[in-house]
Parts: sequence; C-alpha cells; structure tokens
Amino acid sequence: MLQLNCKNADEKVVGSDNGLNIQYEFEQYKDKIAEIITNLNRTKDIPGEWLQWMNLGYSEETLWYVKEYASMVKDRFENLLILGIGGSALGGSAVCEALLKPYWNMLSEQERNGYPRIFFLDNIDPDTMNGLFDILDWEKTLVNVITKSGSTAETMSQFMIVKDRLEKELGDNYRRNIVATTDKNVGVLRQIAEQEGYKTFVVPDDVGGRFSVFSAVGLLPFALVGLDVDEIIRGVKDMDLQLKNPDIYQNIAAQNALIHYLLDTKKGKNISVMMPYSSRLRYISDWYAQLWAESLGKNKDKQGNDVNIGQTPVKALGVTDQHSQIQLYNEGPNNKIISFIRVENFDTTLQIPNIFEYTGVGYLGGKTINRLINAEADSTRVALSDYCRPTVTLTIPRVNEYYVAGLIYMLEIQTAVAGELYNINTYNQPGVEQAKNYTYALMGRAGYDESAHILREKMAVI
Ligand code: PA5
Repeated sequence: MLQLNCKNADEKVVGSDNGLNIQYEFEQYKDKIAEIITNLNRTKDIPGEWLQWMNLGYSEETLWYVKEYASMVKDRFENLLILGIGGSALGGSAVCEALLKPYWNMLSEQERNGYPRIFFLDNIDPDTMNGLFDILDWEKTLVNVITKSGSTAETMSQFMIVKDRLEKELGDNYRRNIVATTDKNVGVLRQIAEQEGYKTFVVPDDVGGRFSVFSAVGLLPFALVGLDVDEIIRGVKDMDLQLKNPDIYQNIAAQNALIHYLLDTKKGKNISVMMPYSSRLRYISDWYAQLWAESLGKNKDKQGNDVNIGQTPVKALGVTDQHSQIQLYNEGPNNKIISFIRVENFDTTLQIPNIFEYTGVGYLGGKTINRLINAEADSTRVALSDYCRPTVTLTIPRVNEYYVAGLIYMLEIQTAVAGELYNINTYNQPGVEQAKNYTYALMGRAGYDESAHILREKMAVI
C-alpha cells in the first residue's frame, strides 16, 4: 500500500516556524476536507466541471478498445513514436520510464518480446527531431499523435512533418502507420483524421491534458509497448476507492494537500520539491511539476479576486541531486516542502563486493546498493529535519503497474484537493494563452493580425 509519512513536516520535528501542528490542523480542517472530498465525488459527472478524470479507473470500454488495437498491431512495428506535448506527453513518458525495463530502447526485439521501442517527441528542437528521424525506419514506425485540442502548434507541426515523410516513404499505405488520439468532435486533428481515415482514440470530454494519463492518451501507448493496462487501471480504481473516504485521517491525498497548502500559506514554503529515490520514477517529477504548476498557479480565486498563488514545483532525483541541490535545501532559504518518494522493494538486488579493505570504502563491501539508496533517502530526510526543513515521504512497495498508477492518481487527487483549499480553478490555464497567441501572430496565423501588431510594438521596445 502507498504510505504517507508526514512526521517531518510537524512542528515537533522542525519547529513551529517551519512545521505544522499536524494533529491540530487535521482537526481544524476535517470538516472542510470532508466537504471537498464529498463535493468532488458528487460533482464529478457534471459536464463542465472537468472532473471526468476521476472516472478513468472505471472505463472498461477504453481499456477494451486499446487492448484490441494493441493486439492487432503487435509485432508489426519496431518503433512507436509519440507526438504530443504537456499533458499529452508527460504522463506517458513518466509511466513508460517507470515500468518498462530500463534502457528499453536499447534492448533487442527479442528482449522486448516483440514490442516496439518508444520515443516521445515532446519538443520542437529541429536538431533532435532530425536526429530522431535519421534513425527511424518509417515503414516500421507507428506514430501516435496526441492532442486534445487538435491544434497545438508544436504537436501539429511535428505531425505535418511526420505525415509528409510517411506518405513519401510508404505511398498510400501510410495511414496504417498513424493513430490519432484527440477530442471526439472538435479540433483540426479530428477533421484531418476523419478525412484521411486514420484509426482514432478519444480524449474524453472534461478531462484536461494534465489529468489525462489514464485515458487513451496514456493507455494506448502503454498497451502498445506491452505494459499491463489492466493492472494500471486496477491501481487507479483501488486508489480512487480509498481516496473517496472523506475522513482526513484515512485519506493520504487530502492530508498531503492540506500540509502543502498550509506550509505554503502559513509558513512561507512556496516551493514544492519532488524527489523520488528511484531513477525509474524520475519523470514522475516532470509530470508532477506540470500538474502542480499549471493547476495551482493562478492569479484569481473563484470569486475573481487577485490572489497570485501557487507553489513553484522543483524536480529533483535522489540520490543524484544530493550532490547538486541538497546543499541549498539544507542551508539556503527555508522556503521549501520536499516530497520524497521511496521504493520499499526494488525488482532486483545489486551486491557490492567485498574487494577493498580501505577504511573509506571497506564498509560498503558486502552491502547492497538497495540498502545504500534507501539509507541515503533516510539520512537526507533526517539531515533536512536537523536544519528545520519540512519533508514528507511517500513510500511505494514496488515500482510496478499497480503502485505507480496508484501513486499518480493519488497525486492527482492531492492536486484537486489543494485547488479547492486555495479556492481557485484547478483545471484552466489562462496564463499560457497569451504566449500562444503571440506565437500564432509571429507565425502568421489568420485572425491574429491584432496580436501581431501589438507584438511588433512590444518587441521594438523590449
Ligand atoms: O494540461 C494541459 O491541458 C496542457 O498541458 C495540454 O496538455 C498541452 O497544452 C497540450 O494540449 P493538447 O493536448 O491540446 O495538444
């Protein structure tokens, strides 16, 4: 079971300037939390609430279609190329990095059991794009283009290049190498897909990009590379059932949301560091950074008052960043809440041989790397508390489909609860629109002449 240890965020450990009286706060907020959890579950089916992601653990139909398609194309492709950005890519790459055998793309076809290598193209750097295109055999590449809006400039420009290449290489058969995941009705990609006859999957209504990983956005790539999507969905569903509990003492997502919210608003911890002690979980931090930043970083509350709130997420990796960021975390500004993710049991064991007797390294011999990584997680947590720095620790029993899905879903609920505590709209992102409009203007999109004019004026003075 996923566990949350929040003792090191308590004032008993880190002092009252930097920690909370957690027992007292849970008592103070227990009714508020019960109301939030009950409301989320009560309103999740109401159109326009953007809470349909809470139903993804129950979507048998998507699961069935995804598995059917994956079995149909099994052994046909050497590569799976994902085109998408933000919420359309981060969850997928976090889960694949966590659950595929490490260095998956370097394994032989046999070692991959006939499943394809996977590439997430989530940026538009021409050099890396050209570099990737140089190594892909288009005939053996299945392209999954993912965009809910169907018009995101980055994803659609990637798609236009890739479609053109596929068509030139494969002639009329190129359509078999494309599968599109997008809105069921609206958007340019939907129109193109219908016109051209691509296989399509749907990003459900009222599921925003950053909450979409358990829709076809993630499930399709997961099934295509042979992950156990039934176990993933079982992990989501079990976590959802657990987190329907309105009792704060039983609901770890609500506890962690409250701790983050109060440490930010009462103790000035306006940075949220995510630090898994597992390389396989490293991209969970990237996914979480988007979820936390885009959901909670808002300038207005629900009543339209100016608030300018939101913790800044920071990505870190244990133990690597002990040798990079921990100096700052211990001695720099005391403005962070650090979340450790700790893995109880790794899939494999690595023994350190007893080959040197030097005092400086001899003590390592005969121990395991498994023990070392968790010892370092524990000692860093304790050292941080010596410096009065609050931390919480999430422990997962293993890195597998069930627990990773549960962890991700728990962080989604945590974000939803935090959004209610901050009293903001968790599901919009008005702050990214302005730069998008300027880009459209710079690239000459019709209807953006006014923005182009404003932009030209601003660029002249800045
Ligand atoms: O979370 C979000 O809504 C965003 O990060 C989107 O996922 C991102 O902007 C990509 O949008 P789309 O899926 O429409 O291409």
